Amino acid sequence: MKQWRSDEIYSSAILRAYDLWVLGVSNRWAWRCPTRRLLDAYNRHVGDRHLEVGVGTGYFIDRCAFPHGSPTRLTLVDRNPSCLAWAGRRVGRHAPQAVPADALQPMPDEVRQGEPFDSAALNYLLHCLPGPMPAKAAAVRHAAACVKPGGVVFGATILGQGVRHNAFGRRLMRTYNRRGVFGNEHDDASDLETALADHLDGITIEIVGVVALFAGRTAGLA
Ligand SMILES: C[S@@+](CC[C@H](N)C(=O)[O-])C[C@H]1O[C@@H](n2cnc3c(N)ncnc32)[C@H](O)[C@@H]1O
Repeated sequence: MKQWRSDEIYSSAILRAYDLWVLGVSNRWAWRCPTRRLLDAYNRHVGDRHLEVGVGTGYFIDRCAFPHGSPTRLTLVDRNPSCLAWAGRRVGRHAPQAVPADALQPMPDEVRQGEPFDSAALNYLLHCLPGPMPAKAAAVRHAAACVKPGGVVFGATILGQGVRHNAFGRRLMRTYNRRGVFGNEHDDASDLETALADHLDGITIEIVGVVALFAGRTAGLA
C-alpha cells in the first residue's frame, strides 16, 4: 500500500476536490463538525497580521472576515508547493507571502522577520502530522514563536481517541491513517491540551463531533 508523507497527497486533482469532499461531505457526515463552525472560529480569532500554516486550498482565509477587511500581512506556510500556489491564487487580492516550509521545523527567517503576527492558524494540520501528540507540538511552538505576545494561535484537529466516530468516520480514519495522510489514531483532547499548554496561555478546546477546536494566547515566546 502506498504511504504518503502528511503533505504529499495534495496534488492539483485532490485540491480541486478538497472543498467539496473535505469541507462539504466529510466535515458534515464523517467528522460531524460543519465547516461553518470552523469559519466562525476564524472570524473570532483572525487578526490583521495573520500566519496560515498548512494552507490546503485557502478556503478559510478566503472566506473569513479580517478585522479591517484586508490583512496588513498574510503569510502562507506549507510544505507542498501546489497548496501554496492554489491558496496564493485564491487570496491573491491580499498579496500573500507564500513560504515553503515544514511546520515541524522552526519557521524560516522570512516568516520570523518583520512585524510579528497577531494570529496564527493551524487548521486541520495537527491530525495530518505523524504522532504522537508531543511531537506535533513542535508545530504549535514554531507558529507561536512568530506571533506577538498576547496574540492568538488557533485551529482545529480531528481526534482519534475519546470521541465517538461513526461508521463513515471510522472507515476514513482507518484508510487515512494506514496511508499516512492522517497520523491521529492516538490523538485525544487531553494530549492536545498538554501540547498547547506548553506554549500557550488561556487555552480553550471545544469538541464538535470528533473535531477539537482550540485557541490560546502567546505569552511572548518570540
Ligand atoms: C488537511 S489540509 C488543511 C488545509 C486547510 N488548513 C483547511 O483547514 O482546509 C493539511 C495541509 O497541511 C499541509 N501540511 C501537511 N503536513 C505539513 C507539514 N509537515 N508542514 C507544512 N505543511 C504541511 C498540507 O500540504 C495541507 O495543505
